[in-house]
Amino acid sequence: MEMDLPTYQLPWRTNLRVPRRVSTRRLCVLGKRQPSTQPAPSLRLWLAFSILAALLAPSGNAQTMHQEHHPPQSAEEYARVLEDPARDEWQKPHEVMMALQLKSTDVVADIGAGTGYFARRFAMHAAKVFAIDIDPKLLEIAAKGAPPNLIALVSKPDDPLLAPASVDLIFFCDVLHHIQDRLAYYRRMTPALKIGGRVVVVDFYKRPLPIGPPPEMKLDDEALTAEFKQAGFLLLRKETFLPYQYFLEFGRAPDHRQR
Ligand SMILES: C[S@@+](CC[C@H](N)C(=O)[O-])C[C@H]1O[C@@H](n2cnc3c(N)ncnc32)[C@H](O)[C@@H]1O
Repeated sequence: MEMDLPTYQLPWRTNLRVPRRVSTRRLCVLGKRQPSTQPAPSLRLWLAFSILAALLAPSGNAQTMHQEHHPPQSAEEYARVLEDPARDEWQKPHEVMMALQLKSTDVVADIGAGTGYFARRFAMHAAKVFAIDIDPKLLEIAAKGAPPNLIALVSKPDDPLLAPASVDLIFFCDVLHHIQDRLAYYRRMTPALKIGGRVVVVDFYKRPLPIGPPPEMKLDDEALTAEFKQAGFLLLRKETFLPYQYFLEFGRAPDHRQR
């Protein structure tokens, strides 16, 4: 059974068009099935936000209830949001690249790389980039036409499957709230860091914002810093140049460094 939906102006200030014909199976996440008349304006707004929240979540199916706040959607739908040129306005990829200060010899692991929005940029400035994700379809999109130094790797939800001492930088953008037992995850990923290696997290502030997951799913930057501390990291730097997201850089605490 299908129903008509209007075109929504999504909060990422994109002209992304929600397909006019959307299966009611997909709309079950939004509440009761709607009759096939046009929704009221307030309902329209609510639908637009709900669809966006769904699109921001991963399309992999190996998540728990906590992470799976949406039904699976197609990689193509997800890609349209992640790769929307209007995202650049607030994601400021150039500023993020500048803040990362990559060296041409660096090996980067972009965990939860999705369609490679950042991984492709890293590939232009680093020796090698591992675009890592649990969703092979998104990685297919990331790898298409990417430079040869971008290597797409399908990971497990609880393990990035990186080789020991293989990367200089681990990067997460809008990913950590999808990971269930983050402390265990950090412990599994940490051996992959080379000596002097760092972890950078870009994620949404935990407050009402016009974009991103609902506030209850967002991770507070101070709580995240405490988590990393528990996993043997120190906060090296916190940048606030992004309007909706924090930029945190962590290094291994001295007593946790590799010898
Ligand atoms: C909001 S998207 C962000 C994508 C990309 N980092 C970006 O900024 O465009 C979240 C990504 O995390 C991935 N993801 C979710 N859980 C994951 C996990 N446990 N391990 C690795 N990737 C995961 C999803 O498949 C999705 O591609």
